[in-house]
Amino acid sequence: MIELPGLIDPHVHVREPGQTHKEDWDTATQAALAGGVTMILAMPNTKPPIFDEITLTLALQAAKSKARCDYGQYLGAGPANAAEVARLAPRAAALKMYLDSTFGELRLNDMTLWVEHFRHWSGPGPIVLHAESRSMAAALAFAQMFDQPVHIAHVSLREEILTIREAKARGVKVTCEVCPHHLFFTQSALDGSSVVNGRLEVRPRLATQADVNALWDNLDVIDCFATDHAPHTLAEKDGENPPPGFPGLETLLPLLLTAVAEGRLTLQQLVEKAYTNPRRIFGLPEQPETRVIVDEQAEYELRAAEMKSRCGWTPFEGWKVKGRVRKVILRGHEVVRDGQILAAPGFGRDVRAS
Ligand code: DOR
Ligand code: ZN
Repeated sequence: MIELPGLIDPHVHVREPGQTHKEDWDTATQAALAGGVTMILAMPNTKPPIFDEITLTLALQAAKSKARCDYGQYLGAGPANAAEVARLAPRAAALKMYLDSTFGELRLNDMTLWVEHFRHWSGPGPIVLHAESRSMAAALAFAQMFDQPVHIAHVSLREEILTIREAKARGVKVTCEVCPHHLFFTQSALDGSSVVNGRLEVRPRLATQADVNALWDNLDVIDCFATDHAPHTLAEKDGENPPPGFPGLETLLPLLLTAVAEGRLTLQQLVEKAYTNPRRIFGLPEQPETRVIVDEQAEYELRAAEMKSRCGWTPFEGWKVKGRVRKVILRGHEVVRDGQILAAPGFGRDVRAS
C-alpha cells in the first residue's frame, strides 16, 4: 500500500446548473472521491454559464448542499463582464476564458474583448485559457503584454508544449495542464466505426503519436495533470452531433499509477502535478488530515459499470491498469472505502469560503 495526498483536479465539468442528466454536484464529487480526488475546480460552461453574481450564487448553492468533496467554482469571461468578475473574484476558483470553440457558449471571438479581462483580473488564481495552437500563442502574447499569469488548459500538441517551454524560459507567467486522454490516446483511436468516432469526440481533439510523444518527452514543462472531466451520456455520444468530452475523474489515478508501474512517470512527478502544483498555482487551502491509500499492486480492468459518474461510460473501458484506491480520508473522515462512498452530500467545502 502507498499513501498519497488528496489529489486536486483543476478542470472538471460538473454540469450543474442546467444539465444534471449528464452529471451533478453529487455524482461529480462521488466520482472525484472514488478516483482519489479530494478537491475539484468546476468549469463555468453550464446552463446558464457562470458569469455574474446570480449564476455564481446558483452554482455555489447547489455545490454547498450536494458536494461530497471540496470544491471551487470558476467564473466565465464574457463579452461585457470583466469588471463584475473581477469584483466577484474572491468567491471564485479563477477566471476561465474560451478563445476557441467548444461545448457551451462562452467563446470570445474579438481580441478587444480579451483586453478588459487581462486588464482587470487580479486573481485569486490565473486566467485559465482554452486556447489551442495559434490562439495559445496569442494568449501568451497577452500574458506578456499585461504581465498577467495564465494557465493553459488541456495542452495536447507538440507545438504547444514546445512553445510553452520557450515562453517559460523567457519569463512569461504561464503554467499548463495536460489531460490523461491526450497522454494515453492518439487520433488513430478514431479509426473504426462511426459509433466509436462519436464517443471519441473531444476538444482539443486527440492528436498524433508525435504530439503524444512530445508531451511525455516534456513532462518537466507540464505543471498539472487535469482530467477535463466532461461527462455526456452514451445516448448523446452515440447520437447525431455527438458533443465533445470524456469523463475522467475515476480513471486519472489508475492510468497515472500504471504509467508509474511502467517506469514512464515517477510517483514524485505524479504528486507534484496532481497535488503540489495545482495547489500552488490556484492558491488553494491545505486539507488537513487528508490522504489516499492505494494498493499499487492491484491489477484490474477499468469498467464504467463500477463508476459513480452519471454519464455511464468511459473511453478507457476494458483497459488493464495497475493501482487501485482502497481508502480516502478527507479532513480526518473516511470518505471512501473499497469503492463505497461514505461522505454525505454537503460534506464538501468551498475552497474560497472564509
Ligand atoms: O471536449 C470538451 N468538452 N472540451 C471542452 O473544452 C469542453 C468540454 C465540455 O464541456 O463538454
Ligand atoms: Zn473543459
